[in-house]
Amino acid sequence: ELSPIDKAKFVAAKRAAGLVEDGMRVGLGTGSTAAWLVRCLGEMVREEGLKFTAVPTSTRTAELAREVGIPVTSLDEAKWLDLTIDGADEFDRDLNLIKGGGGALLQEKIVATASDQMVVIADAGKEVENLGAFPLPVEVIPFGWQTSQALIEETLVSMDVLGRSASLRMNGDRAFMTDEGNHILDLHLHRIGNARQLALVINQIPGVVENGLFIDICDTVIIGYGDGNVEVRD
Ligand code: A5P
Repeated sequence: ELSPIDKAKFVAAKRAAGLVEDGMRVGLGTGSTAAWLVRCLGEMVREEGLKFTAVPTSTRTAELAREVGIPVTSLDEAKWLDLTIDGADEFDRDLNLIKGGGGALLQEKIVATASDQMVVIADAGKEVENLGAFPLPVEVIPFGWQTSQALIEETLVSMDVLGRSASLRMNGDRAFMTDEGNHILDLHLHRIGNARQLALVINQIPGVVENGLFIDICDTVIIGYGDGNVEVRD
């Protein structure tokens, strides 16, 4: 028996899996909700003979996909995707997102941007009035990361953002490492007033590779509820 939160993630994932048709090229997201999607699609491959091209957004998702019987390929091999289905940490009314809680935001953003459609699957608790209660992940290269951190904090002050601390994400007693060998700074902002501008400004800072704000990228959010209901927003 699934907990209400897992049930919510599962029903959203299951609905999204139904969008995948034979011959499609599909980006597979990362995180616990996306993992439900991968398991659903694996079942469709094994039991219904579904054939599609899958491009994972992380080594974690690639491993799970192979485990459940989905052959994977690279984005460069697939070139362009019909659809990407991924989770999110927050989504707002305009379907703008914060992603990267799992640390895969860079590949996730590249894959989503290389897709005709991005569909987000999320439990209802991820919906927010204003983005920013969830710390905004920013991927920085290891070289001089403390300089990038200081520049980010200065930028936040100059933009009058409420919270201003950028903390290095840890994995035990070491700095967290992304699939690309980079670090993550989590920005504790509380509330982001101008997400579009913040996303642009942060990416101008030397050492920053990408940030977790997905603006105008997501087309549809499939919201799952703990009672098994599903709502589609687009
Ligand atoms: C991974 O880097 C993230 O962008 C995930 O998509 C996000 O953290 C959602 O994860 P859950 O589905 O586990 O909440």
